Amino acid sequence: MGQPIDITPATGKLGILTPGMGAVASTAFAGIIAARKGLAAPIGSITQMAHIRLGSKTEGRNPLIREFVPLAELDDIVFGGWDPISPNALEAAETAGVLSKDDLAPLSADLEGVVAMDAVFDQRWVKRLDGVRVKTGATKWDLVEQLIADIERFRSENNCDRLVMIWCGSTEAYQEPAPVHESIEAFEQGLRDSDENISPSQMYAYAAIVSGVPFGNGAPNLAIDIPVMDQLAERHRVPLTGKDFKTGQTLIKTILAPGFKARMLGLRGWYSTNILGNRDGEVLDDPENFKTKEVSKLGVLHTILQPEVYPDLYGNIDHVVRINYYPPRGDNKEGWDAIDIFGWMGYPMQIKVDFLCRDSILAAPIVLDLALFLDLASRAGQSGIQEWLSFYWKAPQTAGDYDPEHDIFIQQTKLKNTLREWMGESPVTHSEAG
Ligand SMILES: NC(=O)c1ccc[n+]([C@@H]2O[C@H](COP(=O)([O-])OP(=O)(O)OC[C@H]3O[C@@H](n4cnc5c(N)ncnc54)[C@H](O)[C@@H]3O)[C@@H](O)[C@H]2O)c1
Repeated sequence: MGQPIDITPATGKLGILTPGMGAVASTAFAGIIAARKGLAAPIGSITQMAHIRLGSKTEGRNPLIREFVPLAELDDIVFGGWDPISPNALEAAETAGVLSKDDLAPLSADLEGVVAMDAVFDQRWVKRLDGVRVKTGATKWDLVEQLIADIERFRSENNCDRLVMIWCGSTEAYQEPAPVHESIEAFEQGLRDSDENISPSQMYAYAAIVSGVPFGNGAPNLAIDIPVMDQLAERHRVPLTGKDFKTGQTLIKTILAPGFKARMLGLRGWYSTNILGNRDGEVLDDPENFKTKEVSKLGVLHTILQPEVYPDLYGNIDHVVRINYYPPRGDNKEGWDAIDIFGWMGYPMQIKVDFLCRDSILAAPIVLDLALFLDLASRAGQSGIQEWLSFYWKAPQTAGDYDPEHDIFIQQTKLKNTLREWMGESPVTHSEAG
């Protein structure tokens, strides 16, 4: 056992702010409100439902994570956000069509009370959407100042002790880092000059960090994975985590691929296709926005399978990912995987996965967990990229220049061992005899 680190208690209210109040954010808010009214269990949430083993396997210590680490209570959460289209969380939920009318009815007053603030939005980054509730300003600097003022107003009007921000906005068009992203000085000058390389998500992230608000990036676009955000996070002592919620097909991929590798089965190809019909699908139908998603989805297999270490098994893989916008399915995505593996003496085998999943049902508990864990990290004095939260991401960000961990089981071990370490418990390595 080590020494526990100092963690400030979770007293007072925690505000969860989401730039983007669409399917994911409204489903997350609805589920949290339903859980605290006792109407639905928070299924899929590690912070609410998972236990954690402590000590050796014979000790029988296995508390709930939320009883082991000092997390904010669901009753202490308040919601807010920005959206250029949805006026409030109820209308967002009704438009998204994820939850039934019956399930929304007892939550409707609470959800209607979560009124979206006018967004920093620019169609250059999301061509398929027409924003109507959009801020105006002479420069990007003006817009960022309005976001900072929104944050402070929300904090005082809701009497919040602490805030966290989770980007639940549309995936922005693909972008490579530019010189304006290199340093705080360059970025701030870029805001004054309204540099075209600064996207809305980066402006929200800037506003959050300088306001001392931890930030998680639920989408694959470039937002906090640029040097300026690391520097700002260090200066303001703010934890960050990203990117792109690990749900649906990638979740299944990072569950299956470690299994193939554990059994030294070869992989020749993995063809993944999706049909989905929600607003996210419509945005991703644009090639520039799809490219952002594709890059995020393709990275997964390489780091799990290590073709450089196992060239005979994984040196020649065709990995293809497709997303097709198909309105009849709404938020209920269908993800097909055709997986070509090979075994003893090279004999080929095939696996087909057809996952009839519900995207926002899988993403919502991640929003809750990230909010609670980012808040915990902040109270535990942590700053910068939180690699222990890689568990939640399709494209986990790392604190240094090395590959991320994609194997969901290693990610889970890292998450739990981080909590053990913070609380002064020994890591669990499963290495005891027997
Ligand atoms: N649902 C999942 O499983 C999943 C998984 C990984 C990532 N994501 C990502 O999460 C994000 C949200 O997904 P969703 O299904 O809720 O999409 P959605 O289209 O229902 O909601 C996104 C909302 O963001 C708003 N928006 C766009 N630009 C904005 C801006 N600049 N400021 C504020 N709001 C803005 C849109 O008006 C929309 O209401 C998307 O980027 C999606 O790719 C979702």
